[in-house]
Amino acid sequence: MIVAHGLTKRFGEKTAVDGVDFSVPGGTVTGFLGPNGAGKSTTMRMILGLDRPTAGVVTVNGRRYDHLAAPLREVGALLDAKAMHGGRSAYNHLLWMAASNRIPKRRVSEVIEMVGLSDVAKKPAKGFSLGMGQRLGIAAAMLGDPGVLMFDEPVNGLDPEGILWIRNLMKQLASEGRTVFVSSHLMSEMALTAEHLVVIGRGRILADTDMRTFIDENSTNYVRVRSPQPEALRDALAAQGMQAEPDVAGKGALRVEGADTGRVGDAAGQAGVWLHELTLVQSSLEEAFMRLTAESVEYHAGVPGTHVPSHPPHNGDPEPGAEQPVGGGTPGWGPPQQPGGWGPPQPPGGPAGTEGGN
Ligand SMILES: Nc1ncnc2c1ncn2[C@@H]1O[C@H](COP(=O)(O)OP(=O)(O)OP(=O)(O)O)[C@@H](O)[C@H]1O
Ligand SMILES: [Mg+2]
Repeated sequence: MIVAHGLTKRFGEKTAVDGVDFSVPGGTVTGFLGPNGAGKSTTMRMILGLDRPTAGVVTVNGRRYDHLAAPLREVGALLDAKAMHGGRSAYNHLLWMAASNRIPKRRVSEVIEMVGLSDVAKKPAKGFSLGMGQRLGIAAAMLGDPGVLMFDEPVNGLDPEGILWIRNLMKQLASEGRTVFVSSHLMSEMALTAEHLVVIGRGRILADTDMRTFIDENSTNYVRVRSPQPEALRDALAAQGMQAEPDVAGKGALRVEGADTGRVGDAAGQAGVWLHELTLVQSSLEEAFMRLTAESVEYHAGVPGTHVPSHPPHNGDPEPGAEQPVGGGTPGWGPPQQPGGWGPPQPPGGPAGTEGGN
């Protein structure tokens, strides 16, 4: 478990992390979300004792990182996959890390196999692709078989198979009771992986809640209704106090806010209006995130003809997966699991060869 109290970090005039309180429980994947520069990496660095808090405290399993006798066995982390000597092989890189925490040599080979790097383990890491580097970083995090794992943008640079593998790995680690704290800007991936969310903006906690509640509280749901008699439908809805707007995303459909499908369907039925579609459309995690963090985005792109919306799009053509009909499954939310996947072998469920274990 990770617990932060009043955690603050200032770099000169800049307050990167501003008195945050949160806890990351075991047994679940907690997503750490926030716009660029929000303070995610700084928070993670403070958890690992790499940055000293200006104020406040953060503990791992009840103790500050610098008070842990064998930290790799308590908390494993991937913060910067490039933070290693390029001339050293993956095997040797992990070997010195293992030695520094009295972790047996055989564990090095285990984690190398776990992340699918066995074929290149003895080659210099400077020849590694971005994704191979990420895998090596994950191997390092797993080395001490720790109960707490932190990953900063772990899917960065991974191919689709690697992304699926990471997703399954994180879920499995959490199912073993471990604490898994992961940051990512890939909202669709987070929606599939995390059950709990901590959202940070400009160094302050904006939300600390479960995924479902977060989406519900930061989204606008609406009913999309399509009829071959749109005018009659609009009148029927108006007669019942429901206002219908054209739903550009729905090719001739109407959009009704503040109503459920039952009320809309009943109004149409009572007026004898035919319906060809009646759908509850619910926001995605991405939309909910954009809505909540709109005020906190510090770095806006200046590409001509584009802007960062201050709220989710209402009437434009939706991006794939941007809005999700409820009922026929909620794509981007309900995980289409592929048990076992086709990635590298899953992590061991049992003791992983560390002396004493956790
Ligand atoms: N060593 C440092 N010196 C000065 N400012 C820093 C330092 N490290 C971070 N910052 C500043 O602190 C703020 C938070 O940075 P941080 O890297 O924690 O953000 P982040 O949420 O991880 O962003 P991203 O999503 O881009 O990775 C930024 O404004 C950043 O410029
Ligand atoms: Mg960062």
